[in-house]
Amino acid sequence: MFYLYGMFHTLSLAPFRGITNKYYRQALHKHIGGYDTYYAPFITGCGHQQIHPSKLNDLLPYDEVQALTVPQILSNDAREIIALAQAVSNAEYKKLNWNLGCPFRRITHKKRGSGLLPFPGTIKKILNDLFQDEVFASGEIRLSVKTRTGYDSPDEVNEVVKVFNAFPLDEIILHPRTGVQLYSGRAAPERYAAVKKDCRHPLTYNGDIVTRQAFLELQEMIPGQRAWMLGRGALINPFLAHELRGVHIPEKEKRHMLAAFHQSLWEHAQENIPGEHRQTGWMKAIWHYMSGMFADSENVFSGIKKSYNKEHFMAAVNQAFQQPFASDEEISIHFQRLTR
Ligand SMILES: Cc1cc2nc3c(=O)[nH]c(=O)nc-3n(C[C@H](O)[C@H](O)[C@H](O)COP(=O)(O)O)c2cc1C
Repeated sequence: MFYLYGMFHTLSLAPFRGITNKYYRQALHKHIGGYDTYYAPFITGCGHQQIHPSKLNDLLPYDEVQALTVPQILSNDAREIIALAQAVSNAEYKKLNWNLGCPFRRITHKKRGSGLLPFPGTIKKILNDLFQDEVFASGEIRLSVKTRTGYDSPDEVNEVVKVFNAFPLDEIILHPRTGVQLYSGRAAPERYAAVKKDCRHPLTYNGDIVTRQAFLELQEMIPGQRAWMLGRGALINPFLAHELRGVHIPEKEKRHMLAAFHQSLWEHAQENIPGEHRQTGWMKAIWHYMSGMFADSENVFSGIKKSYNKEHFMAAVNQAFQQPFASDEEISIHFQRLTR
């Protein structure tokens, strides 16, 4: 495929805990692709002694897709971040991403995720400790951060960026929603553009990239922006990265690719997830978004959601695949329903 229009952009897939595990990343890369980098969902609670091997299940074995994958940690304990950095470094990874964006109360009330954003002094202390350790100081592992504009207020990021500027971070991914906003309402690209002026690190934009039209509008609002992280838009439409790059895939081919992607997900589910209920549970979490690929998305999802065993699930999927694809406008409407 020839990347003309989009050759100047780098596109990464956002992490989604409970959805974009290694099986999803592998299936997407193999059957559809279009991404430069995949971010793995966060690892948490690994402690600072020895990392239990199960914490690294999603990152091992290290294969060609994992080589494009950046692991992520959710923690406010420098010793824990260092221990995981050492473990992923031993497993050949070169980068680690620190989650400062998770908005859920059970996380934030313990000053983790976006719950740290009102405390730039604590962030500074953690970064100080990290960069005093050999694993980060030597550059053996490069640290990046994924964050929001604040927890309560979108201005909190101003002080936080001053802290980031004082450390040799690899990259900052900024999702311009606040923590209290969760995943609802709209992202604020104008806030992002203001932060970009003050940030001395490479900055990646994340939020509400759902269609090529939305992407073009964002480019106008954030002049010179080249690095983008695709979130729910990519879960709805697995071809989004190609579309943003201006790659046209004929519908017949798209249907083949989508069926192969889905088949691979379903095989992974059956081989690796114990119990029919949990297997279809993961697939339903995927279809919660991917049903938006089809014109009658509400009906498509309700058929899949109601299925109570493998046979019903596959019957509902086969019905879904008979439906016409959604237009970009219909995809935007599906996304708006998700952000209400
Ligand atoms: C179900 C769910 C799980 C998520 N898991 C993670 C995660 O593990 N790590 C992370 O940094 N962000 C996580 N996110 C946030 C997304 O990566 C992304 O930043 C967010 O959806 C905003 O981008 P969008 O507006 O393009 O969807 C999650 C979001 C959702 C809805």
